[in-house]
This record gives sequence, C-alpha cells and structure tokens, in this order.
Amino acid sequence: MVASPPARFSVPAVTQPRINEANRKSVGPLSMPPRLLLGPGPSNAHPAVLQALSLRQVGHLDPAFLAMMTEVQELLRYAWQTDNRITIPVSGTGSAAMEATIANVIEPGEVMLVGSMGYFGNRLEDMADRYRADVRTIKKPWGEVFSLEELRSALEEHRPKVMALVHAETSTGACQPLEGVGDLCREYNCLLIADTVTSLGGVPLFVDEWGIDLAYSCSQKGLSCPPGASPFTMSDRAFEKLSQRPGKVPNWYLDMSLVGKYWGAERTYHHTAPINMNYAIREALRLIAEEGLENRWQRHQANAELLWEGLEDLGLVLHVQKQYRLPTLTTVRVPAGVDAKAVTSQLLNDYNIEIGNGLGELGGKVWRIGLMGFNSRPENVILLLAALDRVLAAAGYRK
Ligand SMILES: Cc1ncc(COP(=O)(O)O)c(C=O)c1O
Repeated sequence: MVASPPARFSVPAVTQPRINEANRKSVGPLSMPPRLLLGPGPSNAHPAVLQALSLRQVGHLDPAFLAMMTEVQELLRYAWQTDNRITIPVSGTGSAAMEATIANVIEPGEVMLVGSMGYFGNRLEDMADRYRADVRTIKKPWGEVFSLEELRSALEEHRPKVMALVHAETSTGACQPLEGVGDLCREYNCLLIADTVTSLGGVPLFVDEWGIDLAYSCSQKGLSCPPGASPFTMSDRAFEKLSQRPGKVPNWYLDMSLVGKYWGAERTYHHTAPINMNYAIREALRLIAEEGLENRWQRHQANAELLWEGLEDLGLVLHVQKQYRLPTLTTVRVPAGVDAKAVTSQLLNDYNIEIGNGLGELGGKVWRIGLMGFNSRPENVILLLAALDRVLAAAGYRK
C-alpha cells in the first residue's frame, strides 16, 4: 500500500472549483467548424503550415532553432525583396510589428506625417500620438489613394522626420502606389514606414527598390499562417536613427536594439521566441519561395479578377476604382434594402464561408472579401459567388 505523503507534501484542496463540478471532466476536446475564411483575415492556414506548427519543440536557443531563424530571415528578405539586416518576425500580431516601427524611430516631439485613407491609417495616427510624436495627418476619402503630388506638398508643408502610409488598406480595399515615394522621402530627409499587412505575399512589393525604410506585416493573411509572428524590416537609415537616439526606446519588448541582437549574429536571449509559430512562418515563407513571387502575385491578380467579374455579373458594385483595387481584398457595396450583417451571418451559418462586414466609416456599406495566400483559388471564388447569389436572393435582392 502506498503510504500517505508527509503533510508538508500534501496538495492543497481546491476551495473554489470555478467550473461546475459536473462539467469538469466532461469538457470534451476542442473542435471548431470547418470555415472557409474569405474575409479580411485571417485566411486559412496552408495544410503544410499547420503540419509545421505541430512539429516537436526544441529550445529557443537550440542550435537547430538558431539555424532555422537564419532561414526565416533569408526567406522573409526574399518575400519583401530587401537586403535589410534587421528583417525578422516580431512575436505578436501585425499591430505589434506596427508599433515596433513607430517605437523605434519616433522621439517625443518629432513630426510624423500619416497619410490616412482608412481605418489602419487612423490606427497609425493613434499609435504615433501615444509615442508623443507631433502627428500631422493628411486624409483621403475611404477607397481612394494619395498621388505623388499630394504627398510632395504634404512633405513640403510638414517637414516630418517620418512619414507612414498604408500600402494595402484592408478597411477600403485600396492599394496605395508606393513607387517614387521613397525617393520623395529621401529628398525631404525623412523615413518611410509602410503597412504591408494585406499586401505581403499577394501584391507586388519591393521594399529596397521603393525606398521603404520600415515595413511591417502579419502572418495570417497573404502568408496563410496563423496569427502571431509578424514580419518587420528596417533599413540601415532607420537603424542609424535608432542608434542615435539620446534615450531608450520607450517600449522594452519591441526595442530593435535588443531584439535585433537575438536575431543578429549574437543570438543573445531577449524573450522566448514562440517556437512553433516560427516553424509555421518558415513553412509559409518556404511555400512562397517555392511558388515564386511573380507567380504568386499573378495568381492573386487572376483570382481577384475572376471575383470582380462574378460580383459585377450579380449586379453588384465594387467600391474601389479598378486601377487601385487590391487583389487580396475586395470591397463590394451592399445593395439598397439589404441587411449587410444578415448576409454575412447566413453565409457563415449555412455555407461555412466567412466574409467581412464593413469597418469604421464603411460599416454597413460594404462587404470585404479576401482572397489571400492559400485561399486565392478559383474554386473558392466560384463557391462564394454561388453561395452569395442564393443568400442575396433570400435577402430580397434582385439584380
Ligand atoms: C492594414 C492593416 N494594418 C494593421 C493590422 C493589424 O494587424 P493585427 O490584427 O494582426 O494586429 C491589420 C489587421 O487586419 C491590417 O489590415
């Protein structure tokens, strides 16, 4: 017979169960519905990415992990078309990588110009304000983009140290052209931040050629990986500004002078990297390299065009002018008399298809349809169009 342990080893009794005792052992294993994620993100993770995610863990300083980190960085440089030394996945979602750009290069009182043409431009403005930048904002109606002339005159007027633009505005479906913007920023001696959350892995993007100094993205859209490891890159020009700061970066977790040492030659411990998320993003980036960027961009464009044609055949109106439409995210106007949320709910409940409702100013006015990464496939477009046709008819819509 096993003797009772001495009192000092006895396990304390749980005094407050916090879960109904009858349910405690009957909570079953987790199960989730098989959704097709055609909204603004996340997109479905590629099956190979999910497999990588479930590989056995090693320690975050294990030589095998350190070697894998180098591969992640090389693959990420390819996806972003950059040679930037500091090119890493930030541990966190896109907003953490977004915050990392501002936290590292903005000092209190410095002028930061934000070109806002939607919800995420507004978020940049809010973040810059929290880092006590002197924030100046130029705005465009949601669905439109800035011209080079408009950006030049704003730079001339505000003379910022940093300018931030959203390349792919997920709230509107508009793609802000960035060619030439980096040259403008150099002329005005300011750094350029680009939000590439909805463009990386789906839309042509050339970080070095376009003179982007800081860019950030996410894992859960064009990379078809779960959320949690968010690409970040920083040019030497931006790093120089960071190195010359008189004080510390006011955010310990995102300070690239520290995080950069973990991802740099030193591999010095900073925080415990989310091991499996890094496996996952490595696989997602490997799949991009295997497909080839040009092929991938072409595939996204072709499937988006198939969708646009199908939506117009249903008599629906697309919100963004064709020239500036994102292939990864389409905004389509809700027809008069149709309850936007009832349509998205029915698509989800009856067909397991998720599309997004409008956000901010476009709430109730548009739906947002994402064709990102692994999900950008013709069969998904055809399936969605067929389901939407039925759901719209049930909602009383006649073309
Ligand atoms: C353009 C843009 N920027 C930033 C973010 C924030 O990313 P996350 O939700 O991963 O924090 C998003 C998220 O959808 C986005 O679409």
